[in-house]
Amino acid sequence: MSDRVAAVVPAAGRGERLGGSVPKALRALAGRSLVQHAVDLLTSATLVDQVVVAAPAAELETFAALLGPGVRVIAGGAERIDSVRAAIAVLDETVGVVLVHDAARPLTPPALVDAVAAAVLGGAPAVIPVLAINDTIKQVDDVGRVVRTVSRDVLRAVQTPQGFRRDVLDEAYRLGGMSADGVAITDDAGLVEALGVPVMTVPGAPEAFKVTRPVDLLLAEALLARRD
Ligand code: CTP
Ligand code: MG
Repeated sequence: MSDRVAAVVPAAGRGERLGGSVPKALRALAGRSLVQHAVDLLTSATLVDQVVVAAPAAELETFAALLGPGVRVIAGGAERIDSVRAAIAVLDETVGVVLVHDAARPLTPPALVDAVAAAVLGGAPAVIPVLAINDTIKQVDDVGRVVRTVSRDVLRAVQTPQGFRRDVLDEAYRLGGMSADGVAITDDAGLVEALGVPVMTVPGAPEAFKVTRPVDLLLAEALLARRD
């Protein structure tokens, strides 16, 4: 396996839950767009050699101008899975490890990026950062009545970057779609699980949270203000 590491950044979503008039990845956080934060943290990681960003098709020039000549910008698709598929399709032949990192996680520590990449370079076919669940988790029925309390001891919340051996991710996306039990697959590791390839976990970082709703952007602003 080649030790060249590429980072793929799905950034083509609209940000419906965040709201606002521009795509989420272009929303400003401490004066820079979310996608700029994401690309900067990836290039700050010591193990990342190449970055490819999947942008909304109508915004390719805006993204390219913001990110500069060192970053490849391509058009994403209708769903996140389509955006990631389009990005991995343009990776150099020489890339042996692929990290997939949401543009919407702008405060992810570069050390977490390196930890995920190092675990794949060390032999794991697929690696994801995870956190324990803090809230109590209930299963509910379709009218919102509690069916039971679920043990959170065996559950983890999953973050990005997720890291993969390149051949494993390519195969997962070639077959990609449904899990065996019909649960919708919402992350890249889910596609790899469907192949039957083992997925390892490493400790995630609280700062790697995803900016999803307006309160998340406020939290990110507060954390950055304290950091600087
Ligand atoms: N994404 C993408 N292409 C899509 C949809 C999502 O590249 N068609 C990216 C987003 O830009 C984001 C990441 O996938 O960086 C995680 O998705 P999410 O947080 O759900 O972002 P959005 O889909 O933009 O937000 P929403 O679901 O609220 O519309
Ligand atoms: Mg979405």
